[in-house]
Amino acid sequence: MFADTNKNTGASDSMIRAVKKAVIPAAGWGTGLLPLTKAVPKELLPVFRKPVIQYVVEEAVAAGIEEIIIVTRRGKHTLVDHFDRDAELEALLQGRDQQALLNQVKHIVPAHVSVLAVRQRSPMGLGDAVLCCESVVGDQPFAILLPDVLMQGARPGEDLRHMINRSVEASSGQVLVQAVPEDRLHRYGVVNTAGVDMEPGGVTTITGLIEKPAPGQAPSRFAICGRYVLPAGIFDALRTAQPGVHGEVQLTDAMATLLERQPLEACHALADTVDCGTFEGLLLAGVFSALESGTLSAAGTRALHELISRDWRSHAD
Ligand code: G1P
Repeated sequence: MFADTNKNTGASDSMIRAVKKAVIPAAGWGTGLLPLTKAVPKELLPVFRKPVIQYVVEEAVAAGIEEIIIVTRRGKHTLVDHFDRDAELEALLQGRDQQALLNQVKHIVPAHVSVLAVRQRSPMGLGDAVLCCESVVGDQPFAILLPDVLMQGARPGEDLRHMINRSVEASSGQVLVQAVPEDRLHRYGVVNTAGVDMEPGGVTTITGLIEKPAPGQAPSRFAICGRYVLPAGIFDALRTAQPGVHGEVQLTDAMATLLERQPLEACHALADTVDCGTFEGLLLAGVFSALESGTLSAAGTRALHELISRDWRSHAD
């Protein structure tokens, strides 16, 4: 599967060049964030100064990705507009001599990176969204980044870069996982590691995968957290996948089929993940980004700390 890229095992740059394309499935309805998402795609909701999806694209670019394929649907074209040039806006900012802003809107993605859109025609699930990209991805290994999940507290793109390098080194697909408390595992895809435990940064062989296991049935404490590097063989598995959880074509089920033919490894994430598909996650991600940006005024930072340390229970009572 990764045969021709295996020759490159010496230099890390050539390893990274081995995986240049990334799919970002963004065709969902965002019902978990209604009414926010009635007219605004959830991927464009703000996390401090940027929309959620911009962080995910920046992560991919930091890991060496050069072609981003966003899966959208009818009504979500603004998602792709965000990454396009806007001549009218640029002329306006130029005319007003607002150079800093002009640079920001002009260079949302670096010049060497292209952003393409593929449409999912009906809501048949994550696996189907990935399958929609088959002809654009071609026969090379590629990355998948779920835009609900933001990586925080690590260097930009660190986990994905590690997965890409490891995929070439080990000739194996990679699935990013995080340790999740037992009572929350049923919300995720969970990997079987044959009893092997890992610290963050660790890698181990996957022996099975299950999407949203029933409570108490998870094969490990390691939940899939939305970053994958997979061989193009996943498309064959997706094409024959039967609808799974929620009647949708599940990427996890297709990976379980792929595993019969090709190896997969679990990488334990170094970053903390935040689920921006929930109100609380979106809020936390925004506060984290604001504090980390160093752009808040001293008064703004103080006000935020004061708000957080207030005794809120007394208001709820
Ligand atoms: C999807 C995947 C699941 C994964 C999760 C991570 O589920 O199907 O395997 O653990 O993303 O966020 P969803 O959150 O779309 O239900």
